[in-house]
Amino acid sequence: MKFLSFESDVSLGQNASEFIAKEIARHDSFVLCAATGGTPTITYRELVKKKSAFEHVRLTLIKLDEWGGIEPTHASTCESYLQQHLIEPLSFNQERYISFRSDAPDPEAECRRIQESLHGLGRINLCILGLGMNGHIAFNEPADFLQPGCHVARLSESSQQHPMALQRSLPGTFGFTLGMADILQSETILLMVSGQKKKEIFNEFMNRKITPRLPASFLWLHPNVFCYHTADSLH
Ligand code: PGA
Repeated sequence: MKFLSFESDVSLGQNASEFIAKEIARHDSFVLCAATGGTPTITYRELVKKKSAFEHVRLTLIKLDEWGGIEPTHASTCESYLQQHLIEPLSFNQERYISFRSDAPDPEAECRRIQESLHGLGRINLCILGLGMNGHIAFNEPADFLQPGCHVARLSESSQQHPMALQRSLPGTFGFTLGMADILQSETILLMVSGQKKKEIFNEFMNRKITPRLPASFLWLHPNVFCYHTADSLH
């Protein structure tokens, strides 16, 4: 794993966006899986400024995870976030967008639909991840065992306290997520960790002990992970 430390969120975002833009630009066709949440916002803001660098690339976008049981247009969905921060500013072609529907009537069937779309695509070139306060990646929550594929996740207390979740009137209890194998089969992974509030979990992650109680720890098994973090999130 390669670690890059930055003094501020802005510097992290500028450098991470440069990394992502360069990764995309050196391909003809590229599959990008995008996290949402507080961490990647500046990165995406900076990335869209660099869009001319990768306009020639046939880009496919995958939404990493989603809250369940809520209208897609609600301000707190991952859908609204990606529409606002990437899809609209990039004028992204929605035909090449793979996305769990937050209000899917049959959540299990929705996961099967997304899994099939992923199989059709082949490998994710770059998967952008944040680190949950409880060590989750996407909605792969700490548990006795983890799941390889797309699944409906029962949300932990910690995830239910996420700022996006707190914006809704009724608590969300489930989410949709890519599974651990979907993530770990990505060619390159960019893990971003920002802020003092992540210090405790990030330090635990740095112990390099691989456990389903800290799903992000499985990233230690991957040969090509870049971890961009702010200096205040460590030690
Ligand atoms: P954050 O969320 O980027 O808002 O901290 C990360 C996560 O909970 O996965």
